[in-house]
Amino acid sequence: MMLGVWSLLLLWGLVTPCQGLLETVGTLARIDKDELGKAIQNSLVGGPVLQNVLGTVTSVNQGLLGSRGLLGGGGLLSYGGVFGVVEELSGLTFEEVTLPKVSLKLLPEFGVQVTLHTKVGLHGSGPLGGLLQLAAEVNVSSRVALGVSARGTPILILKRCSTLLGHISVLSGVLPAPLFGVVEQTLFKVLPGLLCPMVDSVLGVVNELLGTVLSLVPLGALGSVEFTLATLPLISNQYIELDINPIVKSIAGDIIDFPKPHHPIKVPPKEDHTSQVTVPLYLFNTVFELLQTNGALDLDITPELVPSNVPLTTTDLEALAPEGLRKLPPGQQLLLSLRVKEAPMVTLQNKKATVSIPADIHVLSYLPKGTPEALFELNGVMTLNAQLAPSATRLHLSLSLERLSVKLASPFSHAFDASRLEEWLSDVVRVAYVPKLNVNLDVGIPLPKVLNVNFANAALEIIENAVVLTVAS
Ligand SMILES: *[C@@H]1O[C@H](CO)[C@@H](O)[C@H](O)[C@H]1NC(C)=O
Repeated sequence: MMLGVWSLLLLWGLVTPCQGLLETVGTLARIDKDELGKAIQNSLVGGPVLQNVLGTVTSVNQGLLGSRGLLGGGGLLSYGGVFGVVEELSGLTFEEVTLPKVSLKLLPEFGVQVTLHTKVGLHGSGPLGGLLQLAAEVNVSSRVALGVSARGTPILILKRCSTLLGHISVLSGVLPAPLFGVVEQTLFKVLPGLLCPMVDSVLGVVNELLGTVLSLVPLGALGSVEFTLATLPLISNQYIELDINPIVKSIAGDIIDFPKPHHPIKVPPKEDHTSQVTVPLYLFNTVFELLQTNGALDLDITPELVPSNVPLTTTDLEALAPEGLRKLPPGQQLLLSLRVKEAPMVTLQNKKATVSIPADIHVLSYLPKGTPEALFELNGVMTLNAQLAPSATRLHLSLSLERLSVKLASPFSHAFDASRLEEWLSDVVRVAYVPKLNVNLDVGIPLPKVLNVNFANAALEIIENAVVLTVAS
């Protein structure tokens, strides 16, 4: 496993200089270092990490400084005259580790420097018999590299760890000066072995959170989006950048391959203490293509779907375009069969999101008992305005019809100006089609999961060919 990680890291290292990173069509996540700090802090709170450290401590040291402890025969400090005084501290053990305060420094192009500022409590019996309680401030300082695991997830790997001993205070009892020095030296030797595994445990928890980037998000019953890392994570001094590749698959597992854009997205700079996700136009288009190929954009508009104030009879049609009817009696109901045969086109431009859906509209007479009779066919394009709203896991879309343009489909024996129908058809589409479309759009555009950053309250910005979500840490 370790070997796998390293060979992959090496490979990435070789690939990095020539990769055209901005030619991403991926979902770009820029996670502020505050979020990493929070993730590390949370992994320590209430979790088993600290208890595990103490567990190790108590099991390893049945009397840290005792004769059978580290200072005993063959122990760390079992030399010469010191041994004599150390005997008197028999039974000194670690009793507690204070919840560390985490401070982070990102190391560009490498990883993170993590410092855990904590305190350990030691109990034992003092040289004069009474209870001895000591507290020692200690900083665990570690250098952590950010790489990619064999599974393809971002991973933090501990490269170097050391402890810095701060002030030692005697909380109760008496500790004569010569013994104080011995305690100090002992802690100096023992603490790295005890506290550095804590950093490893913390990284284990955080790596699990980082691993959720690699996820499969269902798109209703239609398919799913699979997120993978597109490139090696980048680290600046304020954030970690993950270029996440969204792969949209149909329920049968086929990849929906929408043509990739030619121009890279110009992602705006990120302010400190905010995290940012950039959702590319490509992902919007791919999700719409998935909807289209599943027939989720098709609808037969029958009179039942249309409120009575919107006309849907031959009489109404005759008033607009009598040429479109073939000697049908007036007052007969109509059926509009709407079929979307090509992928819709989403546009993210000028701070606006629009969706253009090409639709073939078959106009038929609708007889509850008989077979519908085809009257004429139109080629239409619906232009819809998209309202975007984020939730914790998705970017939701709600569409409203801006305009509908139609022309007669095939050369028609009695040609007429189909644009005369546009206003009427727009009304029908607004009341019958758009609400259904919005229900199918409930799948939304999935957002990648990174370190539990919640984008539900994110500020949205529509830029050229992308949507940027920004959330304060
Ligand atoms: C430990 O870290 C804290 C906070 O970063 C700092 O104020 C303190 O001086 C450090 N102590 C030692 C002994 O390095």
